[in-house]
Order: sequence, then structure tokens, then C-alpha cells
Amino acid sequence: MMDLLLLVLLLAAPAHTWLSLEDWGSGRVDGSVGEFGQCVCNVFLPDTSFPADRVEQMQTSSNQLSVEIKLHISKVSSLKVQLVILLGQLSNLTARVENLESGPDKFIKLEFELLRIELREFEALVTQLKTSLNSSSPAFESLFIEIRNMSLIVDQLESYDRSNLEVIRIEFAKLQQKLEKCQDDKDDYSNAQIGSCKHGGLLRIGKPVVSQLNADLNGGFKYGGWGKDSKPLPGSENMYWYYGYTDTLVTKITRYSDYYKLIMRQVFKTHELYVRYQYDWQGTGNNYIVRENTLYYQFRSTFGMAKFNMTSLTAQNKVIPQASTRFSYHYSANQNLDFAADESGLWVTYATEESNGNLVLGKINEETFEVEKVWQTSEYKQSITNTFMICGVLYATRSVDTQTEEIFYTYDTNKNEESHVSIRFEKFQDFYVYLDYNPADQKLYMYNNGYYVYYNVKFKAA
Ligand SMILES: *[C@@H]1O[C@H](CO)[C@@H](O)[C@H](O)[C@H]1NC(C)=O
Ligand SMILES: *[C@@H]1O[C@H](CO)[C@@H](O)[C@H](O)[C@H]1NC(C)=O
Ligand SMILES: *[C@@H]1O[C@H](CO)[C@@H](O)[C@H](O)[C@H]1NC(C)=O
Ligand SMILES: *[C@@H]1O[C@H](CO)[C@@H](O)[C@H](O)[C@H]1NC(C)=O
Repeated sequence: MMDLLLLVLLLAAPAHTWLSLEDWGSGRVDGSVGEFGQCVCNVFLPDTSFPADRVEQMQTSSNQLSVEIKLHISKVSSLKVQLVILLGQLSNLTARVENLESGPDKFIKLEFELLRIELREFEALVTQLKTSLNSSSPAFESLFIEIRNMSLIVDQLESYDRSNLEVIRIEFAKLQQKLEKCQDDKDDYSNAQIGSCKHGGLLRIGKPVVSQLNADLNGGFKYGGWGKDSKPLPGSENMYWYYGYTDTLVTKITRYSDYYKLIMRQVFKTHELYVRYQYDWQGTGNNYIVRENTLYYQFRSTFGMAKFNMTSLTAQNKVIPQASTRFSYHYSANQNLDFAADESGLWVTYATEESNGNLVLGKINEETFEVEKVWQTSEYKQSITNTFMICGVLYATRSVDTQTEEIFYTYDTNKNEESHVSIRFEKFQDFYVYLDYNPADQKLYMYNNGYYVYYNVKFKAA
């Protein structure tokens, strides 16, 4: 009953507006490399051919569907098995289309001829994707949801008249182009095993993948962050977190049990960092990291590091005596302490008066919550736009122009070596406050002017 992939909801477009399901009707298609490296296409069928009431019906069946999907997914534990099923379903649809073809209606026959060809090509693309995705994580889970959804729409539209079939055909052609483009971008996926540092450091950064506007659907929430736990507790591997606001104040953090829930804005839990008359654990600066279900961030009321344990719901803060409040990153105020996590643990960067504002990198002992070792860099912090860590190497970025960012400096703590480099990457929008690497999925997460953006990375050979 589920047949083919045509669309994923939720526009991931370089348009500056966000469209909800209700807004379908602009008739556009966008493609991107999806959450787990799969190709994701977002198709909005024009109102004229895809009546709003259909969409509404789909929305109402959403919960039911997701339960169904979950059940199904839990049954199919192996990703490879899931793919085999998926491919089976695609051929199944092709077969159905062939059946239709042999029917008496010549007109439909013609329309489906094209559809069938495109389906075949699509099938081939999915086969290629299978290779590139290999045995990685919940990639198929989301692909599965997408295909499931697609099938519903196609089932409905199939019974429509010729003009609708034409719409499907056009959308398929666009989808196929996007998938092909996706294939080209595949080159940018990580070439190292998760957790492994057997590579020669960052080689390049892929194209920005724009998931969508923040969960508050507020374009004014330019300050914030999003991503995944850098060392998830067992069973929380799919969890996402998000926070956004109009300024650098950090008042809470929201978690979503998986990518689908994040996109659907279905909250798992929100933790307030401020409860009147009870506590004020608010932070500032949006340079936090989530690790072992704990938020590490810059405390606001006393300048220092803070951690908020989302399991025990307790907070703790610790002053770094040398750290100065005078030096923030280039784009935003209050970014005095920047947390990062990588394959080797938890890090914090800041600048000191002694260093004349040059960036200092500290390794945090996670047991004692102390900075146990520091490295002095020769880069002035305010010329840096952000930093992140991969395998014990600090990467510092700077702005080149409104569309381009550049990693211009690295500090390798394994060799105590600094160097100037030029690894440029595209920005979706100029301004951003949050950039961090997640060692658990080897992606770079950026909170870009209110939008969730991530990048795949590629490493040099060891
Ligand atoms: C797909 O194939 C299965 C058998 O493999 C069949 O039972 C099912 O009816 C087919 N679905 C469609 C929609 O043709
Ligand atoms: C799947 O379809 C339901 C409605 O049937 C919709 O609410 C949901 O957002 C869709 N999910 C995806 C990933 O396309
Ligand atoms: C792909 O999977 C095979 C077997 O599961 C494994 O040997 C290989 O290293 C994997 N390749 C990548 C790039 O992950
Ligand atoms: C968070 O609290 C739980 C429960 O008290 C504890 O087991 C865990 O170690 C804490 N995590 C961190 C990172 O401090």
C-alpha cells in the first residue's frame, strides 16, 4: 500500500518564509541532503490540483500514521531489511502502473508511461542511496515516513483526472532532478567511522542543509541553537534539542524525541531555567552544548560555566577565574564561554586579559567540572565568528562575505600546533550565533538567523 517517494513536507527552501502544511499551494519543490544523508525532497503541490481538504485529511491521520510507522519500524530492525522492503514497494508500484497501462483508457496510459519511466529512475537512485547510506542509523526511518506519506498522496491522486496526473508527472521530474543533485552532493558525506579519529582532519564542509525555521516559527528568534546530544544516553540517540529567543538570554531548553517530532514541533520535554521564587539558572550567549542529557552553558547571574542536568533537573555553576567578559565572538554579544564536544570530550573556549583577548582553549574534566588543561592560541577572539572541535583540533571560523564563511585557523591539541587554513563553506544566511560539531553523527549544526542548518563534513585521509 505504500508505494513511492514523492514528497516530504516542510519546506527547506532558501525562501525566508516558512510554510506549514496548511500553506501548501505554492507548487514548489526543494531538495536537500536529509538528516542522515538521504536525499530529501520537499514538494508543494499547487492548490488547484491538490485540494486543501485532502491535505487536511492527511493531517488528521498523522498521529495514527506515525503510530503505524513506529510499529512497523520496530518490527523491521535492520536497516538493510527496510531498504529491501522499500525497493520492493517501488517495484510494486511500477507493476501497478503497468497494470493501469494495459487498461482501456489510452489517455491514462500515456500519462502513466512517463510516470513509470521516472519511477524506474527513482528506483535506481534509491539503490545508489542504499550503497551510500550503508548501515548508518535512522536514515531509513525518515525515508520510510516519507515514502509512506507519498503513497497516500499518490493513492489519492491516482484516481483523479488527467490534469492531476500531469501534476504528479511534473513533480516527479523535479524530484528526480533533486535526487540526482543529491547524488552529486554525496561526495560530501563523512568518510570516517563515527567516533574514529583515524583521519587527517577536516578537508571540507558540504552544502548547508536547511531543515526549517525554528520550532517557535519566529523569524525574530535569531539567537539560539539546535542539534543532538553529543554523547546520548542509551535510548536517546535520536533526540534533538532546540532553544531560540530574540536576544542572547537562555531561559529554557526543549527536547524532541526524534527528527520527525522536531520538524512537527511535537515537544518531548521543555526544561525551564528560570522559575519565579524558586530558581534562576538562566544562561546567556548561545554557545551551549548538550552532552549526556546535560546542558553546558554560560551562566548569566554569576559569570562562569554552568551545567543543567536534564535527568536530575539540577544545575551547577563554576567560575573560570581567568576568563574575561570583554571578548565575545564577532557576530554576537555575550559569547564569552563557548562549549564544544568532540570524540575526546568536552571543551570550552574563552579569552583572558592576560592573553589580550586571544582565544584560550580549555579541556573540561567532566567528572569534576573543572578546566583541567588550557592551550593558548594566537588568534584574537573578536575576529573569530565561532569555533568547534573535532578530534582534539580546534577550528575557528570567520566571515568572508554574506554568503561565505571560512575556517581560517586550527589548533591541534594533540600536537600543540596551530596553523592557518582556508576551508570555505556556504552560509544560508549571513548571521549566525551557534556552530558546533556533533561527534555522535559527524555533522556540523548551525543556528543560522533563526533557521536550523546542518552540514556534512569530509575528512582528509589519515
Ligand atoms: C504489492 O505486492 C504485494 C505482493 O508482493 C501485493 O499483495 C500487494 O497487493 C501489492 N500492492 C499493490 C498496491 O499492488
Ligand atoms: C506524513 O503525513 C502526515 C499526514 O498524513 C503529515 O502530518 C506528516 O507531517 C507527514 N510526514 C512527513 C515526514 O512527510
Ligand atoms: C559499510 O558496511 C560494511 C559492512 O557492514 C562495512 O564493512 C564498511 O566499512 C561500511 N562502510 C562505510 C563507509 O561505513
Ligand atoms: C545527571 O544526573 C544523573 C542522575 O542524578 C546522573 O546519573 C548523571 O551522572 C548526571 N549527569 C551528568 C553529566 O552530570
